[in-house]
Amino acid sequence: MYPLIAFIGGGNMAASLIGGLLAAGHPAQRLRVAVRSADSAARLRQRFGVATGTDNVETAAGADILVLAVKPQQMAEAVRGLRPQPGALTISVAAGVRVATLAQWLGSAAVVRAMPNTPALFRCGISGLYAPPELAATARAQAEHVLGSVGETCWVEREEQIDAVTALSGCGPAYYFLLTEVLRDAGTALGLDPAVAARLAHSTFVGAAQMARAAGEDVALLRAQVTSKGGSTEAAVAHLEAAGLGRIFREALAAADSRARLRGEELAQQAAAARA
Ligand SMILES: NC(=O)c1ccc[n+]([C@@H]2O[C@H](COP(=O)([O-])OP(=O)(O)OC[C@H]3O[C@@H](n4cnc5c(N)ncnc54)[C@H](OP(=O)(O)O)[C@@H]3O)[C@@H](O)[C@H]2O)c1
Repeated sequence: MYPLIAFIGGGNMAASLIGGLLAAGHPAQRLRVAVRSADSAARLRQRFGVATGTDNVETAAGADILVLAVKPQQMAEAVRGLRPQPGALTISVAAGVRVATLAQWLGSAAVVRAMPNTPALFRCGISGLYAPPELAATARAQAEHVLGSVGETCWVEREEQIDAVTALSGCGPAYYFLLTEVLRDAGTALGLDPAVAARLAHSTFVGAAQMARAAGEDVALLRAQVTSKGGSTEAAVAHLEAAGLGRIFREALAAADSRARLRGEELAQQAAAARA
């Protein structure tokens, strides 16, 4: 029997997960969604054939899994009055809202925090997952069932590591897009037609990623294999290393990690102030 999954919030991320679950065989009758507006509810009902509504408490009643998919700043309002049934699991995909805050709001510590990324829209995402150590293996498997429907999953051991996941894979698609732009512009500067440079840059990254996945080798080894002594690749890579590419990325990820941590602290303070 498939678990009854209730989504609170039906935007981009919830729609990705609902589409992924349906494609993986999860029956539409075992999915429900609550949103803010009647328009969104009607659109989602039409698109996915699932039950939709605008009453969060009613939608969540009797659910085995609750997926909280509203913006972080909408969370306090969205979970007001929600009480997961005993044994139910809550999964939050909202950046920065901590397990302790959610547990307090919901009166249940059976909570998983997930940090998916935008390729989830095309079911090729990767999600970092965190759960308190005492969460049962069956609940962890349920979280993998939900997030695994839109890509890969991996667990982190400490909640603060979700900020590092945000910095790496959450923000990562933007790094890839930026590098593709940079490569395109550098190719154009060497005299290539901009459209040709764009295709070369894009297909080279996609091809290299597919090659790395298919080869299953350490990327450092693959790089050594394509870098002949005294050749053009070696000249370019030596320049990138001398210019501090590794340091630049370490600093960039540290900036994203700090920003995510700060946002988490702000949200925790707002939650505490709202309770006072
Ligand atoms: N998109 C991503 O790639 C991504 C990646 C990682 C994490 N996330 C996280 O996923 C969460 C959702 O992001 P999103 O991009 O899907 O947001 P979104 O497209 O803005 O969707 C938000 C949804 O929440 C609904 N909502 C707002 N307030 C509500 C309330 N009080 N009760 C019930 N529903 C309510 C909205 O309903 P209406 O449609 O009626 O306004 C809308 O369906 C965020 O916390 C974000 O941090 C997203």
